[in-house]
Amino acid sequence: MSSPQGTGLVESSDLIVGPAAPADLLEAEAVMREVLRTDLGGYREQWHRDLDDLEAAYLRRPGCVLLVARDVAGVVGTAAVKPCVLTSPPNPEWLAREYNRPEVCQLVRVWVARRARRRGVGRALAGRAVAWSAGPGGYRRVYLHTDAGVPGAEAFWRSMPTREIHDARPDPFHTVHFEIDVDAVLRAPGC
Ligand SMILES: CC(C)(COP(=O)(O)OP(=O)(O)OC[C@H]1O[C@@H](n2cnc3c(N)ncnc32)[C@H](O)[C@@H]1OP(=O)(O)O)[C@@H](O)C(=O)NCCC(=O)NCCS
Repeated sequence: MSSPQGTGLVESSDLIVGPAAPADLLEAEAVMREVLRTDLGGYREQWHRDLDDLEAAYLRRPGCVLLVARDVAGVVGTAAVKPCVLTSPPNPEWLAREYNRPEVCQLVRVWVARRARRRGVGRALAGRAVAWSAGPGGYRRVYLHTDAGVPGAEAFWRSMPTREIHDARPDPFHTVHFEIDVDAVLRAPGC
């Protein structure tokens, strides 16, 4: 795995997190499709088209990055950053107005393979994604939303330095919107 966009790698004894190079994409896609299948109800074209061409979606688009986490067995998780572009509806107009700004990015695809969970992989990916956003990405704020109906997803984000900005439940997707406290993440060890 190389670091073409200048972000250093987060390393521990058995985990490396950093920006994906073209050679990482097949493995990354396999993990993403596995998480989609096992946790998120499967691929849906209207939401998951980025998986069909990760290179175009994240490696060749300005303001975007795909991060991968590797252990000895290979890629075990992903996270991606892209410019924040919220549509309204389904999102409230005030939310789109507040977050659709050039200084805001959206954190997406924080997905960890089941075999690697509860080892800090998700936290390391999110931390690295925030560090990239505030560094090479040139963003100042990081937005995300999650499907709180997915076991562990809401607890994961609430365990991070996040601020809930809107709980859209009972919408069909159990959506909770968060902003990450960028400074708090950057102060955390390992970033
Ligand atoms: C949510 C997800 C990314 C967490 O990845 P992970 O590598 O297991 O998370 P971490 O090990 O870094 O966990 C960090 C903290 O989050 C919380 N957490 C994570 N998974 C949890 C779960 N299933 N139940 C309760 N708390 C959980 C805990 O506080 C945990 O700290 P601890 O293990 O020290 O108690 C992973 O379960 C996943 O990929 N889920 C499916 C896809 C998804 O919903 N992604 C998030 C929305 S984009």
